[in-house]
Amino acid sequence: MKIIKSLDLFAGVGGMRISLTKATKKLGLHDKCKMYSEIDEYSQQTYSTNFPNTHLIEDIKSIKKDEIENKVPNHDILLAGFPCQPFSRAGISNRKYLRRAHGFDDKDQGDLFFNIYEILKIKKPKSFILENVQNLESYDNGKVLSIILSKLRKYYYVPDPKVLDAQDFGLAQRRRRIYIVGFLNYKGEFKYPKPSLKRVKVKDFLDRKFDKKYIISDRLWKSHQIRKERNKKNGKGFGYRLTNPNEKSTRTISSRYYKDGGECLIFRGENKNPRKLTPREVFRLQGFPESFKFKVSDLQAYKQAGNAVPINVVEKICIEVLKYLIRSENLKLSNVS
Ligand SMILES: C[S@@+](CC[C@H](N)C(=O)[O-])C[C@H]1O[C@@H](n2cnc3c(N)ncnc32)[C@H](O)[C@@H]1O
Repeated sequence: MKIIKSLDLFAGVGGMRISLTKATKKLGLHDKCKMYSEIDEYSQQTYSTNFPNTHLIEDIKSIKKDEIENKVPNHDILLAGFPCQPFSRAGISNRKYLRRAHGFDDKDQGDLFFNIYEILKIKKPKSFILENVQNLESYDNGKVLSIILSKLRKYYYVPDPKVLDAQDFGLAQRRRRIYIVGFLNYKGEFKYPKPSLKRVKVKDFLDRKFDKKYIISDRLWKSHQIRKERNKKNGKGFGYRLTNPNEKSTRTISSRYYKDGGECLIFRGENKNPRKLTPREVFRLQGFPESFKFKVSDLQAYKQAGNAVPINVVEKICIEVLKYLIRSENLKLSNVS
């Protein structure tokens, strides 16, 4: 059997890795993750529960440029859903409020792209798949994205990035994300996957039975309603969103969902308090398999699920990337030993 070696950076709980494994299986291949990088201890916990024995580098910034050659293993595909807060709308307004820098100027998270870039430059994997929020496209009038692309294009064929929506790929969640792929060798045009158009509803992703603790309290329900009314008067956004299980999608579930569930409260009937999604339901709305394990608190599980990539979309991208590699004969696969 042939194997694809990967690197899982900003790995979260391994959404990109799961997608690649599904894709390789569909193409009769096999994959092996050579190393993952994740700074958050709770995400590491979930990651290692699901993928024991994978080599971990906690902080990607801990690897200096001159250490990359020796410390980063050789690989065929680099996967990275790099932190999006410095570029996301919510993250920017939060940073402005705290008078913190955003975008590339955020020295904690905004410049992490350059760590990916240095690895690509030195290790030269055959391809890469990057993911970020849609807002990266327009952030600073597109300047940040154009810097990213011009850097990557020095060494890679990088087709124009594509914004894809999870709800077009069999998931009942609106989640528009930007995807950037690249290939070391150009062998013809790369095409992003087309929407699957599979029809689903929110109810297909919900549990029949759920713990009563997910029904929001009278107090929280009241405060949601007051805030919504106030926002409406001030001409701001409309606050919480009630989602009927028969709808075709929820709003984007963010990593802050644990706070008050405002982006998606499940309608339970007139005169009944709505309920929050359970962490398992959020993972399901992201395309994670039922076999996926998480033994962390609800708060951490919501964060992890809300941060993850939609598996169905990334799996389809992985399939196209692998087909491109096979077609262009870049893929000199090693045998599993
Ligand atoms: C958007 S999430 C990626 C989620 C992942 N794609 C998934 O499907 O689960 C970004 C991740 O980068 C991690 N991170 C942030 N700074 C990091 C650093 N310096 N080194 C390694 N990981 C980092 C965060 O903890 C977070 O889990």
